Amino acid sequence: MGESDRTPRRKPSGTRGARDLEAALVAAAREARLRAHATYSNFRVGAALETVDGRVFTGCNIENASYGLTVCAERVALLKALSEGHEAFVRIAVVADTAHPTPPCGPCRQLLWEYCGDIQVVLASVAGIKGRHRLASLLPMPFDRRLLREPR
Ligand code: THU
Repeated sequence: MGESDRTPRRKPSGTRGARDLEAALVAAAREARLRAHATYSNFRVGAALETVDGRVFTGCNIENASYGLTVCAERVALLKALSEGHEAFVRIAVVADTAHPTPPCGPCRQLLWEYCGDIQVVLASVAGIKGRHRLASLLPMPFDRRLLREPR
């Protein structure tokens, strides 16, 4: 388990401002980015996923020699959280070292949508926050389990 998985639960409301919590989430993603295994692309990404009860699960991209088995930072964070029994989320921060924000790739959007719903996506570079988006706006017309239940 990584250090940030042990982030203490959020203090009672009022003790820390919303912007402080967002800054802490981005800082956790920035730190996770430093642990990226990005030998092939040299493109390091960090992510930090916040649960409804204020816990933070971090992830970094992990590449390998066959390229296609690469796992993005967002998915690492999500799978860590799910495998630790957390199933309700409020937002994810993604940090890369680019002038333009690095949004989650298509497969990550799909998985985040299915397991997190319409969370906030905070995009940042190492220099600071570049934008805030709802996941629904990044994944219009999603395919999800509701369609599987419709009469055929
Ligand atoms: N990558 C992420 O980890 N998250 C993103 O949002 C975009 C791309 C990784 C995958 C790969 O290791 C590298 O960045 C280049 O695509």
